[in-house]
Amino acid sequence: MPDAYILGIESSCDETAAAVVRSGEQLISNIVASQIATHQPYGGVVPELASREHLRAIVPVVRQALAEANQTYDSVDAIAVTQGPGLAGALLVGISYAKALAYALDKPLIAVNHLEGHIHAVLLEERQKGNHELRFPVLALVVSGGHTHLYLATQKSQGWTYENIGHTRDDAAGEAFDKVAKLLGLGYPGGPIIDRLAPHGDPAAVKFLPAQIKHRDRRDRRGEEKGGEETTSARPRFDFSYSGIKTAVLRYVEVHGMHQSIAARREALARISKPKLEDYLAHCDKRTLDLIASFQRAIVEDLVGKTLTAARAYDVATLFVTGGVAANNELRKTFEHDGAQEGLPVYFPSRPLSTDNAAMIAAAAYPKFLAKDFAAMDFSAEANFPLR
Ligand code: KG4
Ligand code: ZN
Repeated sequence: MPDAYILGIESSCDETAAAVVRSGEQLISNIVASQIATHQPYGGVVPELASREHLRAIVPVVRQALAEANQTYDSVDAIAVTQGPGLAGALLVGISYAKALAYALDKPLIAVNHLEGHIHAVLLEERQKGNHELRFPVLALVVSGGHTHLYLATQKSQGWTYENIGHTRDDAAGEAFDKVAKLLGLGYPGGPIIDRLAPHGDPAAVKFLPAQIKHRDRRDRRGEEKGGEETTSARPRFDFSYSGIKTAVLRYVEVHGMHQSIAARREALARISKPKLEDYLAHCDKRTLDLIASFQRAIVEDLVGKTLTAARAYDVATLFVTGGVAANNELRKTFEHDGAQEGLPVYFPSRPLSTDNAAMIAAAAYPKFLAKDFAAMDFSAEANFPLR
């Protein structure tokens, strides 16, 4: 099989990204234009602004990805783009541009599920390191700003299939990081800031109760995800819930009268154009740092505990942890430590490929390219796109 160079395009949320990947196993170029500065004043992603920024960035970002890969529009073998899940208006920018390119250049067009992309970020980098010996079954935790999903992944002839065995009932883990950071006046996005501040607090200082989740007869809810009937295959499920802990942090703030100091911190940090760790530390007292460390510890323990219980229940041979929250230092260390104790190999993407990027989209497109699983020109964005 000759090499295939796939141009990937990703615009599902607040990053406009393009990348060229060779045959699903070598990253040739990877450009990510972040919109953080645009959304920062609002403390979260504003969908209309995201679409507008994607429109501005998409052409130069794709051009740069091609130039850095020493490729041209004509030389790539296929165009891959995120179909969903994500913000509909944001997805449409990438999809429309990918369609226009594929049509004008007469190239195959491949539609990719963003969550499958996160899983293939791990595969891409393992193959790049020369690791082609993956042991199945694989359990993948996709943990990001929009998702906390557990998938059993299987390779079938030329493609992959996925069974969802757990997802969040309410907030995603990354969303909890972002909301708690906003609540504490730390700015957006919250995950990276909390990650850096947590080692400066005592993780045992504040006790958070673990989320209680009722599993209705442990029934398989794939039907429910589709908006249809529940099926009853009695496969164990491992769902998550993170809105309770966010409310617990809010209660703690109220009970300990922290609102005034939070407002002062928010104002002080807003006056600094790019706050450094020392700036954050200078505006956080011990109680706040302890709260941050305890919050992060609770989320990490819940993610690791549930995932490893699921890994045991399904007797998996390999664990993938991917998505923006997989960049978290404490999460990585805990998974590595606890996974090693159980003899379970745990793979993460490098930090740049943990958060949203287009290399993962180009990598996930490769098996579809081999299978000639091409998208019709009339496919549309799927804001809620289940992975199967
Ligand atoms: O995968 P991603 O870039 O976008 C989505 O698909 O959602 O994930 C973004 C999320 C945000 O919630 C962000 O706060 C979180 O990932 N995040 C982190 C870290 N870096 C990003 N959470 C915890 N620790 C980090 N180091
Ligand atoms: Zn993502």
